[in-house]
Amino acid sequence: MFELITMDEAGSYNSKAGMIEAWAKGWAMARGVSAPVRDHGAFRIDPGWPDQVRRYVFAELNEGFKTLCREIHDPCVFLKICAAPERVKAWLPEPWMIESPRFMMICAKPMHPLRPLLPGGYRLEIEKSPAVSVIRIMQNEELASIGRVVVVDGYAIYDRIETIAEHRRLGLATRVMTELEAIALEQGGTKGVLVATAEGKSLYETLGWEVYCDYTTAVIRGQAGHC
Ligand SMILES: CC(C)(COP(=O)(O)OP(=O)(O)OC[C@H]1O[C@@H](n2cnc3c(N)ncnc32)[C@H](O)[C@@H]1OP(=O)(O)O)[C@@H](O)C(=O)NCCC(=O)NCCS
Repeated sequence: MFELITMDEAGSYNSKAGMIEAWAKGWAMARGVSAPVRDHGAFRIDPGWPDQVRRYVFAELNEGFKTLCREIHDPCVFLKICAAPERVKAWLPEPWMIESPRFMMICAKPMHPLRPLLPGGYRLEIEKSPAVSVIRIMQNEELASIGRVVVVDGYAIYDRIETIAEHRRLGLATRVMTELEAIALEQGGTKGVLVATAEGKSLYETLGWEVYCDYTTAVIRGQAGHC
């Protein structure tokens, strides 16, 4: 379980609510869905996808979270919250379930190592945009590694960093991240934020990122296995 980093330690990340709002906005931009709105003390996003109808992002456990747990009976509505899984579980009635752990991470220093060389046979593709920038690493015409970044209010939100299984541990995601960082800095995104899987956390820690808080997801699973 991770305690929230104190304001001093977090430096420029001194407004948790501001950071979560930027994160929610950046996530919506990166996924091409409409911007978050405030609802039940959370930021609500309505992707309307079969596997994710809606999501609520909470900076903390509050009454709004409790109300939604009681009122929502449909599957594929996700409650995302900056709190440890054990705490969230204690608030959840049946049939809500907790997803595997995630970590909100931050980085306001230059990442290291700086743009490592690609192994032979790999090629970089850079798609820069004021909205969502994408870095791809290709081998022949096949995708080997990918990641996106969006800059919102000085925050750089990194999204869906992935290396295809057979190309892992070659430094590709490191290169993707450092290329994304260069774009983010050009666009004024100096405060990095992302939500990491356990695997991603290991990668980001090697680049200098720190865990800011646990990020827990609760959902009612669908019968058809959509979510
Ligand atoms: C996490 C992921 C993106 C890493 O991609 P990658 O291209 O293999 O990463 P790199 O080769 O740049 O790794 C650099 C360093 O990060 C650390 N690291 C990366 N993956 C790790 C893992 N699975 N376990 C432990 N350390 C890991 C290591 O220190 C590694 O250096 P080393 O190989 O010399 O030990 C990849 O495993 C992946 O796509 N996983 C599935 C999707 C996912 O979880 N994405 C993260 C979303 S937040």
